[in-house]
Amino acid sequence: MAFKRSLLIPLAVFVAGLGVLLGTALFILQPQQQQSASRVPIGGPFRLTSHEGKPFTDADLKGKPFAVFFGFTHCPEVCPTTLYDLTQDLEALGSDADRLRVAFITVDPEQDTPDLMKTYLSSFDPRIVGLTGTPEEIAAVAKAYKIYYRKVPTDSGYTMDHSATVFLMDGRGDFYGTSNFQESAEIRRGKLRQLIKNG
Ligand code: NI
Repeated sequence: MAFKRSLLIPLAVFVAGLGVLLGTALFILQPQQQQSASRVPIGGPFRLTSHEGKPFTDADLKGKPFAVFFGFTHCPEVCPTTLYDLTQDLEALGSDADRLRVAFITVDPEQDTPDLMKTYLSSFDPRIVGLTGTPEEIAAVAKAYKIYYRKVPTDSGYTMDHSATVFLMDGRGDFYGTSNFQESAEIRRGKLRQLIKNG
């Protein structure tokens, strides 16, 4: 039938056009959905110095999921408790612990030199990396993670007030969740296992 043959080309053009239109619509819609649904603006690029005295950036943490928290070596309670807990957690995770990185960033860069952090961290799991930097570098990374810290004068000098949140970040460096020192070991380890599983 002649009329079918003559309709074939316009039909093909129509179908192709529809495909392009649909593809464009999906292309426009998808990135917007991802942005609003999963991206929490916590974390980001930083440039610091490790407790080994070497340059250390966010790129050195990415590739594996990581736990990061802020504190200082003279902290009387929360920081040593958190470091102790994480040390126990890493042991409890067994071989899975090697699929995770842990970083401790000082909020007291004036006192916490790489050497002091190295000595301090020798009491904890050797996989925990200590990070320090200039006051400006520390201010920048604290801002990226939206943490609070403040120097508070005391009779003998000063102490640091600071947020105690442990940030759980995925292998791309995107925010995954949080933990804190008040949680039970069971809950913390459950979160760490989930984080490792998620990548
Ligand atoms: Ni502390």
